[in-house]
Amino acid sequence: MLARATGARVPLVAMDAMTLGIRTGTFDSAVLAFVLFHVPDPSAALAEVRRVLRRQGAVGVTTWAEDPVTKAGQIWDEELSGCGAWDPSPQPPDHESMNTPAKVGRLLSAAGFTPGRVWIERLEHQWDMPRFTALRTHFGATKRKLDTLELRKRETCLDQIGERMSHVEAGDLVCRGAAICVTAAA
Ligand SMILES: C[S@@+](CC[C@H](N)C(=O)[O-])C[C@H]1O[C@@H](n2cnc3c(N)ncnc32)[C@H](O)[C@@H]1O
Repeated sequence: MLARATGARVPLVAMDAMTLGIRTGTFDSAVLAFVLFHVPDPSAALAEVRRVLRRQGAVGVTTWAEDPVTKAGQIWDEELSGCGAWDPSPQPPDHESMNTPAKVGRLLSAAGFTPGRVWIERLEHQWDMPRFTALRTHFGATKRKLDTLELRKRETCLDQIGERMSHVEAGDLVCRGAAICVTAAA
């Protein structure tokens, strides 16, 4: 994302959300879009975000209420497991603790925020095969899993996936999800 934002007219920096290198009371607003379930301690991360916001600053948070695996995604998961690939991530995402508006609201309140608007946004996206494949081979859990395979095994595995993917229909590449969107005041 930073690489893509090269034209931005604001400073760009990557930091751990758990310990922001930013002075207390600096920003008017902060956005955590599909990030909170990745951090080791969501309450501590929210408290850290609140610390860097000005009084009456605002935060926007999105998490997944529903993020079902597509049939095409299932093929990738099955074939990767069959090839012996595994996810070396020390910490899988924790969707369970923030998959309802009430749970997200409680997390925000526990960190000292006053929850404001809460709504569910339904999302639908039709992938095409090249982009779906690029996403799986370049990002996230499938990339991490592929990277655990030695080169020849990885190629064999990708061939097997490619063979099964050649039979999928457009509908198998439709992602449907529901995102929880919450705004809150610091
Ligand atoms: C699902 S992506 C969402 C990216 C972006 N917000 C969006 O909506 O497209 C999750 C992001 O959380 C970031 N992330 C995970 N753990 C983090 C941490 N401890 N501190 C900061 N960012 C983290 C990852 O690098 C990744 O970019």
